[in-house]
Amino acid sequence: MGQMLEMRQIFKDFSGVSVLNGIDFNVNEGEIRALLGANGAGKSTLMKILCGVYHATSGDILIQGKKEEIKNPLQAAEKGIAIVHQELSMIPTLTILQNFFLGKESAKRGLLQDKKMREEYAKVCDELDFHIDPDIKTRDVSVAKQQMVEIMKCIHANAKIIIFDEPTTSLTDDEKKTLFQVILKLKDQGKTIIYISHILEEIFMLADTVSIMRNGDMVGTFPKDELTIPLISEHMSGKKYVAGQRLKSYCQKESDSVFKVEGLSGRNGTNNVSFEIKPGEVIGLAGLVGAGRSEIVRCIFGADRRTSGRFYVEGKEVHIRHPKDAIKAGIGLIPEDRKREGVILKQEIYKNATLIQLGRMLRRGVLNFGKEKEYTNDAIGKLSIKVASINSPIAKLSGGNQQKVVVSKWLDDKMKVLIFDEPTKGIDVGAKEDIFKTIEDFAGKGMAIIFISSDLNEVIRASDRILVVRNGSILKDLDNTNLTQKDIMETILQ
Ligand SMILES: Nc1ncnc2c1ncn2[C@@H]1O[C@H](COP(=O)(O)OP(=O)(O)OP(=O)(O)O)[C@@H](O)[C@H]1O
Ligand SMILES: [Mg+2]
Repeated sequence: MGQMLEMRQIFKDFSGVSVLNGIDFNVNEGEIRALLGANGAGKSTLMKILCGVYHATSGDILIQGKKEEIKNPLQAAEKGIAIVHQELSMIPTLTILQNFFLGKESAKRGLLQDKKMREEYAKVCDELDFHIDPDIKTRDVSVAKQQMVEIMKCIHANAKIIIFDEPTTSLTDDEKKTLFQVILKLKDQGKTIIYISHILEEIFMLADTVSIMRNGDMVGTFPKDELTIPLISEHMSGKKYVAGQRLKSYCQKESDSVFKVEGLSGRNGTNNVSFEIKPGEVIGLAGLVGAGRSEIVRCIFGADRRTSGRFYVEGKEVHIRHPKDAIKAGIGLIPEDRKREGVILKQEIYKNATLIQLGRMLRRGVLNFGKEKEYTNDAIGKLSIKVASINSPIAKLSGGNQQKVVVSKWLDDKMKVLIFDEPTKGIDVGAKEDIFKTIEDFAGKGMAIIFISSDLNEVIRASDRILVVRNGSILKDLDNTNLTQKDIMETILQ
C-alpha cells in the first residue's frame, strides 16, 4: 500500500487568528482514515484546504509523492480529490441525471449527448449496485439517496481520495448500513477515504486508522485497535474522561402539569397525540428516524399545521397557529435542521444568540448592545462556544459551534416548555455534556423539557419518561426506571 496523500506542516489563519498550527497528515492508498476532533478543532478547514476551497497560509500537499498546487475545487477534482459535504449541494428542481452531470454535461457541438450520459450514469449505478431513476426530480428523493448520488459523482470523476464530512447525521440506520457498505467497496477498489464524524461508534465499524486533532494541532494517528471511546475523548479534549451519568431528576411529580397536549393531529402525519408534562420533567421521544418525532413537536410549536388538538399551559388553553404564538405561550423549539430554521447565517453571532430574547434586550425601547453582548458572552461560557469574536457572522463558526449558538438562543429561564430536537447532532462528545448540563439546569428551574435524540443512550440518560413514537403516534409511555436500550428497541420494533 503506497502513500496516497501527504499534507505537510499546514498552517492556516483567518484574519490573523490561527486555526491550524502546522498539521502533518498522511494517508495510504486503500485506507479508511477517521478524522476526529472537538467542534472547532479544524477538521473541516483542513479538508477544505485539500479540496481547494481554502488556501493554506503555508504548507505543502503531495499526492502520490508529487507536490501539487491546489488553487480551487476544480484543480482538486483534476487531481482526484472529491468531497461529500454534510450539506447537500444538489439543486432540488433538477433531475437526478441533471445533477449528476451538473457542470460537466458531455456536450458535442452544443448538444447534450443524452444517450452517452445515460450510459455513463447506468455504468456507475451498476458499479455500486445502487439504482435510482435518473429522471426523478431530486427534491423527491430522500437525503440518503441524494447523498448516494454525490458519491456516484465522486466515482464518475474518478476520484482517488474521497472525503466524507459528517455524512450520517440525517440517515436512518438502514441507510447508514448501505453507506458503510459502499465505503468499504470503495476501499476495496483502492480508494483513499477520509471520514469525519462525531459518532464514535461509527469509527469503530468503519475506520482502519484514526487521526485526532485538538485546537488546530494534530495529536496523533492511531490504529483503531489501540483506541477506546474514553481514550479518543481524552485525546480530543486533553481532559480525563468521565462516563456520562443519568441526569438528576427534578420532576415535580405531585404538581399539576405545566403543559398538556390533547388529541393532536396534523397533515405531517401526526396522529392523535396526547400527553402531559410536569414542571421539571424531561420527556424523551424515542423512535426510528422517520417515526414522526420532529413532526409532532413541529405541530406543537406551530411550525407545521395541525388539523385538530388542544394545548394547555398551566391549565389554561392556549391557541398556537404560528411559532410566535408558541413563544408567547412560553414554548420554545430548538429545531433539528439548523441550517434551514435555526440560524441566520449572515448575521453576527450575538444577533443569532439573542434572536428570541429581543424583548429583554431593549432599554427604553431601543436595542441595547451591552445587554445583547452580556447575554451572548454568558451563553458562550455556559456552552463553551468557540468563537473569535461575537461580532463575526455565524457562518464562520464550525458546524458544531453553530449548533451551540442555536441552543443558546433559548438559555432564557422565562420559558415554560423547551423542546430539543436532536440537539446533540454534530456536537462533539465533550460538548454533549454541556448540553446535558443545560437541560439539567432548566429542569432544575421547573421548566418542562421534551428531548428528541436518535441515540437511545442519550434518551435514557436524560429522561424521566420515554414516549415511543411510530407513524406519528405514541405507541407507549414508559417510566424510565431501569430501562435499557434493548427494552426500548423491542418496543420500537414490536
Ligand atoms: N471562513 C472562516 N472565517 C473565519 N474563521 C473560520 C472560518 N472557517 C472556520 N473558521 C474557524 O476555524 C476553526 C476551525 O473550524 P472547523 O470548521 O475547521 O472546525 P471542525 O473541526 O470542522 O468543527 P465541527 O466539528 O464543529 O464541524 C473554528 O474556530 C472556526 O470558527
Ligand atoms: Mg466541521
